[in-house]
Amino acid sequence: AMESGVAKKDIEDWGAYEVELLQRIGIDQRLMSRIITQAKQEPKRVVFAEADNLKILKAAQIISDEGIAFPILLGNAEKIKELLIENALVIKDFLIVDPFEEKEKRSLYGNLLHNKRKRKGITAEIGRKLMRNRNYYGAMMVETGEADAFISGLTQEYGETIKPALQVIGVEEGIKRVAGMYILSNRKGVYFFSDTTVNMDPTAEELVDIIGVTARGVKFFNFEPRIAMLSYSNFGSNEGAVPTKVALATRLAKEKYPDLIIDGDIQANVAVDTALQEEMYPFSALAKDGANTFIFPALTSGNIAYKLLQEIGGMEAIGPLLMGMAKPVHILQLGSSVREIVNMVAIAVVDAQSQNSKINL
Ligand code: ACO
Repeated sequence: AMESGVAKKDIEDWGAYEVELLQRIGIDQRLMSRIITQAKQEPKRVVFAEADNLKILKAAQIISDEGIAFPILLGNAEKIKELLIENALVIKDFLIVDPFEEKEKRSLYGNLLHNKRKRKGITAEIGRKLMRNRNYYGAMMVETGEADAFISGLTQEYGETIKPALQVIGVEEGIKRVAGMYILSNRKGVYFFSDTTVNMDPTAEELVDIIGVTARGVKFFNFEPRIAMLSYSNFGSNEGAVPTKVALATRLAKEKYPDLIIDGDIQANVAVDTALQEEMYPFSALAKDGANTFIFPALTSGNIAYKLLQEIGGMEAIGPLLMGMAKPVHILQLGSSVREIVNMVAIAVVDAQSQNSKINL
């Protein structure tokens, strides 16, 4: 990323970055500039759980200036204002909400959570107490329609951040498992990785669910998914629990989604090597064009693979995009850059715009 003139980590001059996005040949940049343009056409209200953080405030300034979204900043108003002044940040248009000051709202939201989860041990009192936690409060703002999308996770562990969202907003109707996708790209192309963040050790049936949300997620970005069910084996060449599980998931997925291009169990290199497949596995559904979408057998491999490709392989990474939630919720990777946060917000806005269409995240 450095060689193209845009620093990989923080970026101060968003305008210059956007001009550069348009000029650069990378397909991922074309992808992001399309998303940013679409977000600007109908900006949405995005609530940030961690607004007492400088990177979030820098991102909020950019999204407000650029008309990508209207930021709702959760946190202590004094602290947020101090940070803005200290860093000479001027955000054009925004709202600060401090859950600690919102006793009535906390009580209302707490009761709503109690109603949803009264048989899961959430009494009204516990519900009200939980609303002091900005992950619960922010998710509830989206649930009740006071915001259109929720962004958190910059400073907290992923699991801790997603749990409140799962409890407050939950899974979209008709979908069983939510899953996290990363988009990785370089000159070779754009690749979609799933599940990189949520399901630790999915069963074959759960892998089929993950394929469903992932295929839709790939279409959301205007790509046609060609799905490889990754393993350390090719079509039963090696023994073990993973090849067996992945082969079963592939068979079930082919039955459930007859229109999808999907095959496996397959090794990662073989999945993208069309010549090798033509020679050795000409029956493979991926032999003609190769895979652009990778479904991993478990969280470990997906999570490690994308991080290696991003850090050592130098691929551009967008994500993790949470797919299958009832409303737009996206959880940042711990320590994301300002640019990654802005990209995530733009995607969340387009996701919010698409809520009533069939293709959303
Ligand atoms: N899809 C849909 N619903 C789910 C899912 C899922 N994948 N996982 C949990 N839920 C549901 C649960 O069934 C539960 O519903 P219910 O209480 O209404 O019955 C609700 O969400 C809340 O679940 P909890 O029981 O509180 O949470 P759980 O113990 O199931 O944990 C979690 C869910 C936090 C996602 C867990 O699976 C996890 O920690 N995953 C790994 C996260 C992680 O460490 N990722 C790697 C790092 S991320 C990165 O690198 C960017």
